[in-house]
Amino acid sequence: MKNVLIVGGAGYVGGAITDLIQQSNYNVRVYDALLYEDSFRKPVDFIYGDVRDHEKLIPHLKWADAVVWLAAIVGDGACQLNPELTKSINQDSVAWLADNYDGRIVFMSTCSVYGAQNSELNETSSTNPLSIYAETKLNAEKFLKHKNAIIFRLGTLFGVGDLYSRIRLDLVVNILTVRAFVEGQISVFGGDQFRPLLHVKDVARAVLMNLETEHKGVYNLARQNVRIMDLAYQVRMHFPDMVIEHTDMPFQDTRNYRVSAKKAEEVFGFKSIHSVDEGIEELKFLVETKRIKDLKSPRYSNQAYLKEHYEELINKFKEVEAA
Ligand SMILES: NC(=O)c1ccc[n+]([C@@H]2O[C@H](COP(=O)([O-])OP(=O)(O)OC[C@H]3O[C@@H](n4cnc5c(N)ncnc54)[C@H](O)[C@@H]3O)[C@@H](O)[C@H]2O)c1
Repeated sequence: MKNVLIVGGAGYVGGAITDLIQQSNYNVRVYDALLYEDSFRKPVDFIYGDVRDHEKLIPHLKWADAVVWLAAIVGDGACQLNPELTKSINQDSVAWLADNYDGRIVFMSTCSVYGAQNSELNETSSTNPLSIYAETKLNAEKFLKHKNAIIFRLGTLFGVGDLYSRIRLDLVVNILTVRAFVEGQISVFGGDQFRPLLHVKDVARAVLMNLETEHKGVYNLARQNVRIMDLAYQVRMHFPDMVIEHTDMPFQDTRNYRVSAKKAEEVFGFKSIHSVDEGIEELKFLVETKRIKDLKSPRYSNQAYLKEHYEELINKFKEVEAA
C-alpha cells in the first residue's frame, strides 16, 4: 500500500493525521472544501473539492489504496444550523463512498452516538444519538458495515495536532484552558457529566496503525473518562489563580457518557500516549505567547463560523449541487 487520500484533511484532526502519515512514507493527498480556511499551505498534494462533487472525487479514489474519511459538518450546534446539508455531507456522501470504493477505509465517527447513559459503554452497547450530528454519524457507520472499513468512535478531542491547521476552541479541554487564561474564571454548569477525552495526535496514531490491517467494524477511541467538574480542577492546576464558579443549573448539552476503549487495546494494541495535562499546556502556550490574535473570533468554533458564513456556505453547496 502506498497512496492515502485524506478526505477532510484540512481540518483539526486532518492536520495531525496528514503529518503522521506523510512522515511514515506514504504518498498523501488531501481532498477538502476548505470550509474554514482561506488557503491550504502544507507541502502536501492537495485537491480543493466537495465530497458531493463525485466527478471530481472519483479519480482520487481510484488513485488511493486507502481513504481516511474525515469530511463532515462537525459538532451538534454546527449540524443543527442546516440539518439537510448536514445529512447530505455526513451521511449521504458516505453511502456514496460505500457504493463506489473498494479499498481500505478509515472512518471517523463519534462517541456522541451513545448520548446520555450511566454505565461504561463498549462497542456493543446501545446507541442513543441526541443530535443530528450523532444521528448522521451513526447512519454513516451503517453504510460501511460490509466494507473493508474500520470505524473509530472518537471521544472529545483536545490539544494541538500540527503546526498549520486551525485549532478548534469549541472542544471542552481547549475551551476551559482558554477561558482560564482570558477570564481567570471557569463557570461549570452541573459538572457531573462525563466525557471521554483523547489527544488529537493519538487519533493520528490509531489511523496509521490501521491503514494496512484487516481490522473492521467499530472501535471506541479514548484515553480517559473525565467529569467536567474534575476537568475544571485539572485546568486550575495549570492556572493556580483561576476561580471555578459552579452552578447547579444543568448545561443545555445533555450528553453524558463514559466509554471503554479496551477493544482497540486488545485488538491492535492501541494506548494513548498524550495526556490531558499535555493538551492543556499546549493550549496554554498558544494563548500565553499570543499566537492566536483574537481568541473570540468565530473562526475557532465550527458553529459560530458557519453561522456567520451561512449564506456563503449555502451558495457554495448550491453550486456543487447544480454542477
Ligand atoms: N474533534 C473532535 O473532538 C471529534 C470528535 C469525534 C469525532 N470527530 C470526527 O473527526 C472528523 C474530523 O473532525 P475535525 O474536528 O477535524 O473537524 P473540522 O471541522 O476541523 O474538519 C472537518 C473538515 O472537513 C471539511 N469538509 C466539510 N465538509 C466538506 C465537504 N462537503 N467536502 C469536502 N470537505 C469538507 C472541512 O473543510 C474541514 O477541513 C469528523 O468526521 C468528526 O465527526 C471529531
